Amino acid sequence: MKPSKPVILTGVRANNNIHIGNYFGAILPIINMAKRRSDEYDINLFIPDLHSFTTPIDHSKLYDSILNNARVYTAAGLPLDNSSIHLYRQSRISAHSELAWILDCFTGFGEMSRMTQFKDKGSKGDASVGLFNYPVLMAADILLYGATYVPVGDDQTQHLEFTRDIAERMNRKFGERMNYDKFVDLFIVPKPVIQQHQFFGKDQGLRIKDLVNPAKKMSKSDESGKGIIFLSDDPKSAHKKIMSATTDSIGKVQYDKENQPGISNLLEILTLVRQDAGREVTLEQTVNEYFGMDRYGDFKRIVADEVAEFLENFQNRLAAVDERAIEEKLASSEKDMNVVANETLYRVQKAVGLRK
Ligand code: TYM
Repeated sequence: MKPSKPVILTGVRANNNIHIGNYFGAILPIINMAKRRSDEYDINLFIPDLHSFTTPIDHSKLYDSILNNARVYTAAGLPLDNSSIHLYRQSRISAHSELAWILDCFTGFGEMSRMTQFKDKGSKGDASVGLFNYPVLMAADILLYGATYVPVGDDQTQHLEFTRDIAERMNRKFGERMNYDKFVDLFIVPKPVIQQHQFFGKDQGLRIKDLVNPAKKMSKSDESGKGIIFLSDDPKSAHKKIMSATTDSIGKVQYDKENQPGISNLLEILTLVRQDAGREVTLEQTVNEYFGMDRYGDFKRIVADEVAEFLENFQNRLAAVDERAIEEKLASSEKDMNVVANETLYRVQKAVGLRK
């Protein structure tokens, strides 16, 4: 089963604690894109479960959180019956790990040390080697399927650049000379980041901020959890989190990310939950509706009510997903994707001299 169409590929790490930053910033745009583009593209939507424990986790919850990702995609509207959309677990396709090892041997120690995500997370205590070479596995995830487009948030763009670098390096070293002037590439190189942005439009790189510290993005590695709205949050506690969100002393609702990051973030969140409820609103319209409002408490209550309502609706949708259909989809995509991935792996094994 070889994909006949160009490939768009992306993944969100397995986690039971998916938050609205992941949902609105990544998952929902991906699902909407998959629905829109699946006529022209193969869409590989995978769960990078091997990437889920580069930092310590509770392993007794891992299995369920992997499935939870698939449930969340489904609740977000992923059509399980679309044969151009492939939903699979990274760990079920062993070619990912095997290609990662081969790529590891062509990756510089210095190159990995410069990755900002490693520098951020790796500086805390004794980092694992898995965290260190995480981008290599990510490159394998992408290159196995010849993906040209990889929609990710901007915290991942450095890893995407690395994927392009290693693909080009391998092509230079192992591209096969067919005749005097024609090379056959080993890997398809994903498009440069700038072209990815042009292709996916402004959805990409959307950044929901932490409610307590709106200078930084909402991130699941934040320990306190107070600034994060998880999809699994009880709507009442989410309401409280919004009510205690950090604002500013300017005292007027305006969209000014520089001077009023907290209020601007709430305006974005309000727009997104309204869109999720099927309303065709833009950020600009929301901003105009509340522009100049001087009682932050009243404004926050509106946002808190609508976020609580969003969570309630989403959790109902999640409870109603068809578990069996999900398991069947995973099994059939994994069967197909093993074929595609093994073909690439075979080619690479030949190129590096492991096979004749
Ligand atoms: P992960 O699981 O950390 O995040 C998944 C996606 O969500 C984006 N994201 C956000 N977007 C907007 N606002 C936020 N607050 C926010 N937080 C996270 C991330 O940029 C990402 O696009 N290494 C990847 C997973 C991965 C992958 C891949 C992705 C592994 N292999 C191959 C694409 C292709 C990661 O850790 O994403």
